[in-house]
Amino acid sequence: MLELTGLTVDYGTTRAVSGLDLSVSAGEAVALLGPNGAGKTSTLHAISGLVPVRGTVRFDGTDITGHDPAAIARRGLIHVPEGRRVFPTLSVHENLLMGRIAAAGRHGWTEDDVYSLLPALVPLRDRAGYALSGGEQQMVAIGRALVSAPRMLLLDEPSLGLAPVIVRAVYDALAQIAADVPVLVVEQNTVEALRLCSRGYVLTAGRLALAGTAAELGDRESLLASFLGTRDAAHA
Ligand SMILES: Nc1ncnc2c1ncn2[C@@H]1O[C@H](COP(=O)(O)OP(=O)(O)O)[C@@H](O)[C@H]1O
Ligand SMILES: [Mg+2]
Repeated sequence: MLELTGLTVDYGTTRAVSGLDLSVSAGEAVALLGPNGAGKTSTLHAISGLVPVRGTVRFDGTDITGHDPAAIARRGLIHVPEGRRVFPTLSVHENLLMGRIAAAGRHGWTEDDVYSLLPALVPLRDRAGYALSGGEQQMVAIGRALVSAPRMLLLDEPSLGLAPVIVRAVYDALAQIAADVPVLVVEQNTVEALRLCSRGYVLTAGRLALAGTAAELGDRESLLASFLGTRDAAHA
């Protein structure tokens, strides 16, 4: 459903992503892992049309490489960015309603569906974005993405900066969502990501270091070795 071929992202002379091949099929949840600076966010930005890119991005059979970000979102490829980006002066409910812009008339989750999935938001309905905790903001950002009628969700480090119990709640919600919508989740929290996902890719310094099933990647030794770029040594 999503297919990246030779994806390359440059910022001036800095190569952030180098020749990445990656795919996500319908019904799949896939993890994109790797240390800070590996090129994970740049990969998601490239998919969403937020940075210039070489290589190709195909979504649902259409080449969307270099398309306008708003046009990509209207296709249902919905990005939940790092740092959640909740509108600070809008209430929780108004933030959810903003999701309808990207939905562009397609059928998605209703706001009531979001409150059922994320009941912690019910008592916060009228609270302003700026007054929410990090975990509450993450839930609002995910809820807004659902109202956008996603055909696929791109999530950038949903666990970042959250307490473990909140991470668990966010990932419980994502597990329910992933039953309906394919997901590509970027994480440094490999344990949670590999519990959610059936497969994953590991990036280091912009290059694919390792790809495999969650079970294969959950083998800490090979994962750590791939982070350090010593995979061959670990398997010797
Ligand atoms: N806007 C930018 N301008 C210049 N360099 C950038 C920019 N964004 C990211 N980079 C660089 O690209 C590399 C990959 O960054 P990023 O994609 O944010 O990695 P990750 O999300 O895995 O932490 C890093 O070396 C980072 O410093
Ligand atoms: Mg990042």
